[in-house]
Amino acid sequence: VENVGVVSPNLAVDRVQVIEKFSPGNVYRPTHTYPAAGGKGVNVCRVIKALGGKPTLLGFTGGIIGKYIIQKLKEEGIDFIDVSIKDESRVCTLIVDGRKNVFTVINERGPRVSNVEIKRLYREYREFSKDKDIIIFSGSLPQGCQPSLYCELMKFSNSKDKIFIVDTSGEALRLALAQKPYMIKPNLEEFSGIVGRKEYLLGNVKNLIRELKRLYATTVIPWIIVSLGRKGVVFSHEGRIYYSEALPVKVVNSIGSGDALVAGFAVGIVQRKSFIDIMRLSVAAASANTQTLYPGICKKEDIDKFYEKVKIEEIH
Ligand SMILES: Nc1ncnc2c1ncn2[C@@H]1O[C@H](COP(=O)(O)OP(=O)(O)OP(=O)(O)O)[C@@H](O)[C@H]1O
Ligand SMILES: [Mg+2]
Repeated sequence: VENVGVVSPNLAVDRVQVIEKFSPGNVYRPTHTYPAAGGKGVNVCRVIKALGGKPTLLGFTGGIIGKYIIQKLKEEGIDFIDVSIKDESRVCTLIVDGRKNVFTVINERGPRVSNVEIKRLYREYREFSKDKDIIIFSGSLPQGCQPSLYCELMKFSNSKDKIFIVDTSGEALRLALAQKPYMIKPNLEEFSGIVGRKEYLLGNVKNLIRELKRLYATTVIPWIIVSLGRKGVVFSHEGRIYYSEALPVKVVNSIGSGDALVAGFAVGIVQRKSFIDIMRLSVAAASANTQTLYPGICKKEDIDKFYEKVKIEEIH
């Protein structure tokens, strides 16, 4: 395993707006504005790159914003296979309020893609998937895509013995389960979207463990990773449950930490780490992501430092 591909159809321009003491209903002048290519898959690529990998990204872009995305990806040195579309790509706004430690995300729905454009994605994907050992499906789908897209793409892959990782939500995630990906990484919200019963899950960890074990029993997905933000992360590895507390970090911006976790996991697989060390690298990358303003931009030395500190415990 070496080649990592990232499929992220709903690419975007992310604009990080730094606004102190942000509250809705007022007029603000951000103290800083940072535009860059965005969309979950871009964050994943950045973190894999920070860890020394060379991922390839596949997604739709359209219009002027699409051109801008392509340019920004090039500047960052992210290999990109573009499926160009007619409709305009989206802009997402991330409001970072360091004073209140509150992060607000405004994700536009994204362009509408046509059936012809989706067919082109399939064609590109088939080529793309040929030499990939690990394929990560990351983020939401643009309008016009069926929620079964990730599920269908997995089926449509060039060979069956690939490692598939799925990080999305709702129906797209639920339908992907049937293809038995190697790993899924819902946050608590997304996890309750598949198993229902949010209040019950929030109630206590025992309930979460029970639902995780039940989902493993019905799907046999080797890794089910439920991230809980500052409450840490619960791993189901072949039905055994592990927990890692969040590290006590001073957060600059936590958006994209789930994406960083996915990237750390993939690199752990590439580096053939033990399953415990795969979990440690996942948490270390997620934690490092909280230390910088821009999603997916993290420092290798932060990851290394956190890697030494992460503790994984088996829980029952
Ligand atoms: N405030 C925080 N303090 C410490 N660690 C954090 C914090 N927020 C996130 N993390 C780390 O990052 C991991 C993933 O975060 P989270 O559960 O918020 O992912 P997510 O909701 O998928 O995020 P996104 O989709 O924006 O990438 C957590 O399990 C934790 O290890
Ligand atoms: Mg996420």
